[in-house]
Amino acid sequence: QPIHLADYQPPPFLVDDVALTFRLAPTATRVIAKVRFRPNPDASPGHDLRLDGEGLKLISAHLNGAEITAQPDESGLTIPAQDLPEGALDWQAEVEIAPDGNTALEGLYMSRGMYCTQCEAEGFRKITFYPDRPDVMAPFRVRIESDLPVLLSNGNPASSGQGWAEWHDPHPKPAYLFALVAGDLVAASDRFTTMEGRDVALNIWVRKGDEDKTAYAMDALKRSMVWDEQVYGRAYDLDVFNIVAVDDFNMGAMENKGLNIFNSRYVLASPQTATDSDYASIERIIAHEYFHNWTGNRITCRDWFQLSLKEGLTVYRDQQFMGDMRSHSVKRIEDVLTLRARQFREDDGPLAHPVRPESYVEINNFYTATVYEKGAELIRMLQLLVGQDRYKAALDLYFARHDGQACTIEDWIAVFEEAAGRDLSQFKRWYGQAGTPRVDVSEDWQDGSYTLTLRQHTPDTPGQPLKEPLVIPVAMGLLGADGAEMVPTTVLELDSPEQSFTFPDLPARPVASLLRGFSAPVVLNHSLSSEDRALMLAHDTDPFNRFEAGRALARDILHAMVLEGATPGPDYLNALRTMVSDEALDPAFRALALHIPGQDDLASSLYAAGHVPDPDAIQAARTTALRLIAEALRPQLQDVANAMQTPGPYSPDARDAGRRALKVQAVSLLARADEGAKAAELFARADNMTEQLGAWGALLAIGKGQEEGAQFYRQWAQDRLVVDKWFSAQVMYAAPKAAAGLVQQLTQHPDFEWKNPNRFRSVIGALGANPAGFHATDGAGYKLVADWLIRLDGVNPQSAARLSTLFETWRRYDASRQALIRAELQRIRSQDNLIPISIDQNS
Ligand code: ARG
Ligand code: ZN
Repeated sequence: QPIHLADYQPPPFLVDDVALTFRLAPTATRVIAKVRFRPNPDASPGHDLRLDGEGLKLISAHLNGAEITAQPDESGLTIPAQDLPEGALDWQAEVEIAPDGNTALEGLYMSRGMYCTQCEAEGFRKITFYPDRPDVMAPFRVRIESDLPVLLSNGNPASSGQGWAEWHDPHPKPAYLFALVAGDLVAASDRFTTMEGRDVALNIWVRKGDEDKTAYAMDALKRSMVWDEQVYGRAYDLDVFNIVAVDDFNMGAMENKGLNIFNSRYVLASPQTATDSDYASIERIIAHEYFHNWTGNRITCRDWFQLSLKEGLTVYRDQQFMGDMRSHSVKRIEDVLTLRARQFREDDGPLAHPVRPESYVEINNFYTATVYEKGAELIRMLQLLVGQDRYKAALDLYFARHDGQACTIEDWIAVFEEAAGRDLSQFKRWYGQAGTPRVDVSEDWQDGSYTLTLRQHTPDTPGQPLKEPLVIPVAMGLLGADGAEMVPTTVLELDSPEQSFTFPDLPARPVASLLRGFSAPVVLNHSLSSEDRALMLAHDTDPFNRFEAGRALARDILHAMVLEGATPGPDYLNALRTMVSDEALDPAFRALALHIPGQDDLASSLYAAGHVPDPDAIQAARTTALRLIAEALRPQLQDVANAMQTPGPYSPDARDAGRRALKVQAVSLLARADEGAKAAELFARADNMTEQLGAWGALLAIGKGQEEGAQFYRQWAQDRLVVDKWFSAQVMYAAPKAAAGLVQQLTQHPDFEWKNPNRFRSVIGALGANPAGFHATDGAGYKLVADWLIRLDGVNPQSAARLSTLFETWRRYDASRQALIRAELQRIRSQDNLIPISIDQNS
């Protein structure tokens, strides 16, 4: 029963006002909803009144004051057109729900004694009968009755007394942005004055005992508020901004109007318990949810096909923010690594879909890397194509024109066409076409003239065999043999299947540095000699391509190791040696450049090159390569490990975090040459989680760290977020043959709570970070994941669906692995499980 974009119809009724009363009780919460409807002047007349509603026990219903008997069906309730009075309608309904038994964590549920909600995308219909669609926007008034001390909802506090509180949100919003929280919570509080002079109370609500872990989130929030004013001219629009940390939460966080709800792992941090990358995630996600206030809440989506309108844009905004706060080049490298690891993988598998899908069965399964991360790439490309100033003009127009509306990708493209005075209809194909485009490069050099020929094609994806040429911005420059730049960065626009670009009058044959800054989300096939790559690694003016050159060198070597049993040659090791000790380079950059491609990355590139990847051979080649690097660079690694001190109190800022990253990376590599001596030493004296966990991981990776693991657990057994790390590190680094057995054993641990999404992911989901373990030839990894998937599906279908993406690369592998996976997927299917992965031959 898929829903199609093409079938969109405007809502027959609009809502002018919503008043909700909640009488909270774990197994019998009463919700009284008063909703004022009015016929939509833009819809045809004569429609039934259809309200969404799921799992609601209807106690009573009234229409314009008269009690009516309505018989809900499975998905809602209909009042036939002939029973509807003319004009405006006053709907009132009382329903009963049971938050305590709600393990799906959608709608109103309980997390360790506290009530909270998650309504995006379609959770509000589990709270009351309502037109649960984003193009119905209304102001909300909410009354909460409960003995719990803290009672929160959207908007501004209106009034409160013993056992009750009322909230009023004047900004019309769709139901998916509704939120309610009730619990025994404490706040860390601060204030912020907006550029418009509004004095805003900021609160971060946590459980007692966690108050000392909110400072960084608060700091990130204030910086986000300043940044959105300065860069996008957007100010906050309520008198309070509340954030709540919840232990049981399906995803990262949620941008409910004035009441953001967060997975506690993206709020709580202290130097001893959070790593530098946890701090960076907190900063990013706090900013992301805050930025949604304008891109998502004030301007929302007409329907869920337009999800990337808010998510792609908000991810792009959080990427810009993080670049401004930290380092643009390092952030860009990290973002591209994530894009390739998650979105390219999605595009190459059975779940490939466009940034704006054309149909869906379950919208929850479309909160994907494609909608989020590729969506952000499309905005980055738009900015590159129209330029900074016109990008700004387009955004100003977007906010001015669409504030308070529920919009589409067409509205978005239109503001760019107007602001830039250019036709973007071809560019718009990016939103509708799935798959990662390939750009093949050929070059010609004659009489001082260099000609670059680019060809594009996008591979077939399920249900979308025909692909049209896209507009691909290719930022590029030309380097001379001495490393000096002959032609500085220019942006070529590739908009046909094949195009040539000529650069005349050059003194010598150049080395082309293409796709600088990763200017488009494509696979670039540019064969370069290892000398040229080494030249770029040493001299490219574009930091992304410097990184990329080193990465390509490493990938080529690892391919040769896997396929031919080759060993890394001196070129690569020399280049790496120079890079590591180059003090002109940001330590964070050096740390990244010291990472060799991961197992899944190599499986993907080998498959793309026409090979069947062997997870065991890949794992073995990586182990050998890391050992050879460690042996060849031992003195340099020791030097940087010693040099990267971070004196003074712990700071999670980019500078210190970069130094720690390089230290931990050097120590991890050294472990492969010194049997973990330096790592054991770092573990013993670490006073922060980055170094403690990094050092323990380095030991686990060489088959050691048993003692340290026991010590780690004893030290942190009371801290849920650190115990998650304790579980996942063991799984990630387990020897391939032992991985499934270890996971099985950890699920018997008293701290394994399979209904808590973070814990579940840290044990079962962590197998995804151990590809050789997951793909072990006996199929134990597949069976274990399938067993848990079946078990979890009835309890928390969203988490189960996410776990199923472990299987999405199944077509890469050999016949025997494919057969094992196929059997497990069939077994899952036979349990009526609606996992999104399909096993059809043609998928
Ligand atoms: N809008 C939230 C965020 O990006 C995520 C909501 C995810 N919802 C879901 N059903 N998966 O920022
Ligand atoms: Zn978002």
